[in-house]
Amino acid sequence: MRASGATDFVHVGIGGSALGPIAVQRALNHPYYNALPDRGGPRVHFAENTDPATLAAILDVADLRNTWVNVVTKSGSTAETMANFLVVRGALIEVLGEEGYAERVVFTTDPEEGYLNQISAREGMRTLHIPPNVGGRFSVLTPVGLFPAAVAGLDADALLRGAAECADEVREMGAQHPAVQGAAYHYLMDANKGRNVRVMMPYADALDRLAAWFVQLWAESLGKDGKGSTPHGAVGTTDQHSQVQLYMEGPQDKVIEIVEVEEHARDLPIPEAYADLEGVGYLGGHTMGELLNVECDATRKALTEAGRPNSTIKLGAINEENLGYLFQALEVQTAISGSLYGVNAFDQPGVEAGKQITYSRMGRPGY
Ligand code: PA5
Repeated sequence: MRASGATDFVHVGIGGSALGPIAVQRALNHPYYNALPDRGGPRVHFAENTDPATLAAILDVADLRNTWVNVVTKSGSTAETMANFLVVRGALIEVLGEEGYAERVVFTTDPEEGYLNQISAREGMRTLHIPPNVGGRFSVLTPVGLFPAAVAGLDADALLRGAAECADEVREMGAQHPAVQGAAYHYLMDANKGRNVRVMMPYADALDRLAAWFVQLWAESLGKDGKGSTPHGAVGTTDQHSQVQLYMEGPQDKVIEIVEVEEHARDLPIPEAYADLEGVGYLGGHTMGELLNVECDATRKALTEAGRPNSTIKLGAINEENLGYLFQALEVQTAISGSLYGVNAFDQPGVEAGKQITYSRMGRPGY
């Protein structure tokens, strides 16, 4: 499915309404997708934060005559998303008029709750529904993540197939499934061993936003009642030159979870040169992917030898099936961890207080 004729697609949403879709695009699309002349779909932009510099920049580059906007909010009332929507709406109306603009806007929201349903009843936007029992950070495999994936030419069905395969395996294997065992491992490392920092370190740039998605999933689901371990994202090899010193010799408070990709989608041979310079010449004849994976293995061995607990998630390749599988596995693991910690993994009462103060300061009636 493609937004035919569209040059730009602006995804408006924050938190769970943005991090999953961004992780999908980053993992599966060309890193310079928006700059590719023959990408075959619209450029994709994400308006998450209320930073005016970002939104203004999106409006600078998007051709508003041919732009589609997807406003994603489960609650239908998030201030950041509503503000971004109102600004984009105003810009679209300037170009397309009050009549034409609603044609270009899709709402992705709860089937009944929230202001987007009231607005679409007035203005006639097309609406995609998020299942009522699925909260934001667990929603990447609903229209929240699948619609933008499909717009950018990715295989949304394959994401779901991978997730279904994981769900079937969890049902069959129960406590033997690695996702379930991982829940027990991380819980015990925190509760019994004082390792209350969980680092996710993929060895692939394409998975850096997967780590960001997971950080939210783990933090917002489990950080309650004084419990929960602190998730942290890193990327290999880049963070070997930044954080690995801390992981190797800093406080014994971490578990490191490496995500290793066996076959990289693309690889580059390293040309032979400078054979007489021993610190350079040895690289020639290998490949960039080989170097990445050797460094991954070297870091794992070094951590193990230094008595730093680590585990590895192996992906054969970064593709839709494997990503769908991993999303599902990490969601299952987080939900089970909620039970182990004795907290409700599906609410987020701690973010309410700040929202109330914002509403009051911005003049929302009743606050
Ligand atoms: O995981 C969550 O529930 C949150 O992070 C929400 O996704 C975030 O607050 C945005 O909420 P909404 O989709 O209602 O705009």
